[in-house]
Amino acid sequence: MIDNKKKLGQFFTDPQIADFMAKLVTGSNTANVLDPAAGAGAFLKAVHKINDKIKLYSYEIDDKVIKEAKEKCSFEYELNHENYLYAGIDRKYDSIICNPPYNKFQGIKDRKELIEAFKKKYKIALSGYTNYCIYFLIKSLNELNDKGKCCYIIPYEFLNCGYGEIVKKYFLEQKYLKTIYKFDNTLKLFDDATTTSCILYFEKEEHRQINFINITDVEELKTGKFKNIISYNYKDLDHKEKWINYYKPNNEIHHYKNLVKLSKIGKVKRGIATGNNQYFLLNKEKIKKLNLSKEVCIPCVTKSPDVKTLKFTKDDFDKLYHANKNVYIFDGAKAATQEDRNYIKYGEEMKYNETYLTSHRCPWYAVEGKDSSPILISVFSRNKLKIIRNEAKVKNLTAFHSLFLNDKSLENLYFCYLITPIAQEILFLNKREYGEGLDKFEPNDLNNCYVFDVNIMSDHDKNEVLNIYDHLDDTKIEQLNDIFTKYIK
Ligand SMILES: C[S@@+](CC[C@H](N)C(=O)[O-])C[C@H]1O[C@@H](n2cnc3c(N)ncnc32)[C@H](O)[C@@H]1O
Repeated sequence: MIDNKKKLGQFFTDPQIADFMAKLVTGSNTANVLDPAAGAGAFLKAVHKINDKIKLYSYEIDDKVIKEAKEKCSFEYELNHENYLYAGIDRKYDSIICNPPYNKFQGIKDRKELIEAFKKKYKIALSGYTNYCIYFLIKSLNELNDKGKCCYIIPYEFLNCGYGEIVKKYFLEQKYLKTIYKFDNTLKLFDDATTTSCILYFEKEEHRQINFINITDVEELKTGKFKNIISYNYKDLDHKEKWINYYKPNNEIHHYKNLVKLSKIGKVKRGIATGNNQYFLLNKEKIKKLNLSKEVCIPCVTKSPDVKTLKFTKDDFDKLYHANKNVYIFDGAKAATQEDRNYIKYGEEMKYNETYLTSHRCPWYAVEGKDSSPILISVFSRNKLKIIRNEAKVKNLTAFHSLFLNDKSLENLYFCYLITPIAQEILFLNKREYGEGLDKFEPNDLNNCYVFDVNIMSDHDKNEVLNIYDHLDDTKIEQLNDIFTKYIK
């Protein structure tokens, strides 16, 4: 069952949510309803409860789930024991309701075939990164009768990420999408899945507006009274924007002044990926035991919790080293002694040269050629990005992104800006959400963020900031915030 859970995306819908969605798609004219990924039949049950005259259709591929559904189900419905995505469209439906499987692109073995088929049949050129659930949704939108209704619950990652752009463009051209009920990412809807969730509601007719509803309490579904509704005209929506921003009108970028795109003043890049941390990371004891030379030990911050201060100094690095933390990466390309070469040989005996990353690197035991970064930015965060001034000039693994500025003389000023609440408020307009309050920034999310243009500051304020930098600790952040805020708000 665990296997199928992952492979087939089996996360079953809570009855409260199923009832809400069933109500949306069941009207007085609804004669038939389809669930394309029916599982144990949560939605069919909910629709049948509202109107037992409605003819119910479904698809499901898992024998076990089908058997369970048949044993438990007290009403009739047509079950097609086959892959919905390959089933022909020989019938159209008044309503379609679905909680599809949410497999990421790596788990979709037939994605090339699906992309080709969707291009031909539905005139949409989906990206190879598209989540499995989107294929279900696009097919369903093409199986509706006129005025038909469609309701899907899926992760809302498509609102913000690259593959979602083409999907949003499709919705904007079609104009069937009426409402996106986004569950606040502090709500956990599925016991076993760490995912964000939204309910998409479509009606097959031309709409003028999309409603963006942010649900902070599942009770809102019961009462139908939603606290946070914002509507946008179709013509004002842009498929290239992160739609998450449409939920927060007060945070829009034009509420701030003197900003510049981060990509104009520098570049954020990914940290070093070793391909096998167990082998490549070194601590004091391991270096001693293997008798490795200094040349192959490249100083590095390897995980975010190791860095506890705003500035990471040589002293901080030495403390980690003496505490036997992993603070070096093995760079076999600099092997200087027989012991160094023996460690490479050991890696080959263990077949560490055959993993995806190492086998694509030449030679496999070299460290990726990345410079040490003056400013480090944590990849994952909860409400606050960890920004570190790398005074120790060490390298960093992928737990941190690296920020390189075009003008190196501005590194301290920009660092002081980035640690302030006002800077973080603006950066967070571009975040991705990973469920349960966890936020993630990819390098390009940050490159597309706006930051304050420090060039417009007075010399007096610049000097004041740099003085604070020299004696920086957490208590000085408010003071920095006041200086920057007067230029931005
Ligand atoms: C997220 S579960 C939802 C089940 C049910 N609708 C619910 O909400 O409780 C998705 C279901 O889709 C089934 N499934 C996976 N791939 C499928 C496919 N290609 N065609 C039809 N069903 C599929 C899985 O076995 C699983 O039962």
